[in-house]
Amino acid sequence: MSVSASAPGKAILIGEHFVVENQPAIAIAINLRAHVTARESKNDKILIFSKNLGIKDYFSEGNINIKSPLYPIYYAAKEALKSLNIETSGLEIIIDSEIPPSAGMGSSAAVSVATIGAILKIYRRELNKEKISKIAYKAEEIVHGKPSGIDNTISTYGGSIIFRKSEGFLKLISNFSDVKVILADSEISRNTGNLVRKVLRLKNKYERIFDPLYYSAGHLAIEAAKAIENMDFERLGELMNINHGLLSAIGVSNRKLEELVYVARENGALGAKITGAGGGGFIVALCYKKDYENVFKALKKVSNRVFVCDISDKGII
Ligand code: PMV
Repeated sequence: MSVSASAPGKAILIGEHFVVENQPAIAIAINLRAHVTARESKNDKILIFSKNLGIKDYFSEGNINIKSPLYPIYYAAKEALKSLNIETSGLEIIIDSEIPPSAGMGSSAAVSVATIGAILKIYRRELNKEKISKIAYKAEEIVHGKPSGIDNTISTYGGSIIFRKSEGFLKLISNFSDVKVILADSEISRNTGNLVRKVLRLKNKYERIFDPLYYSAGHLAIEAAKAIENMDFERLGELMNINHGLLSAIGVSNRKLEELVYVARENGALGAKITGAGGGGFIVALCYKKDYENVFKALKKVSNRVFVCDISDKGII
């Protein structure tokens, strides 16, 4: 029998990159989800098929291609089975995700979380969310080396969180019903691991200049968390704009991202910034509901992929 599970993608509202060096950051789950369907099969292989990437791979003991883009998913599946003390025979795992890959929207973490969810459903077992998030974190380490853990956390729990690497996270008490978030693609591909390393190299080179920027980003996150809890979206937008300035300063913006950010701001967004690792990928704009159509239309003129999203309370289901 086939079962399905899903998990949300995310947007980082405040604090990407700074979060890698233990500053707090804020993420929201969005209503674009990774769906995973799974069932037991009769052989001893784990078949993983990604409809989005158009690739299929078989994994079995003694035949594990660690270079496959699907290997992190296999790893998450195996770890979930291990946690349940299940010696599996075989599995078929089919991924169908609404989240664009390699775009800063947490697609890989969401697929890992949903895969674990599907395995739990096959065997009618439970794992607590902390354990699910931890397994997805380990899969994220395979994807990009030194993840902060924010992606697997928001994808598992949903809603909006303030997250700090050394301390974990708090769910924010929030009501986003007055606003929409718009995500617009720069259509420039980039690699999170490379960008994280680039920023850290620059930070080591200019330590005394970077330190205050990191410190400032930490304050920004705390202020933004208060703004979210107070539903003060004008203030949140301003803080996002400041955050974008810091991201430009540490070297992850470019001409196209700046264009998208300014188009969003000039057409009514409360705030707009890079979201995720930068260097390409998406920007996020925060808009009042009454203004989002304007912002959407303007962004559509300069980007082929623009998503209008709501914040999703649902994590793994
Ligand atoms: O993979 P992305 O683009 O969502 O970037 C994640 C955000 C970083 O802070 C750059 C890295 C991390 O692990 O938190």
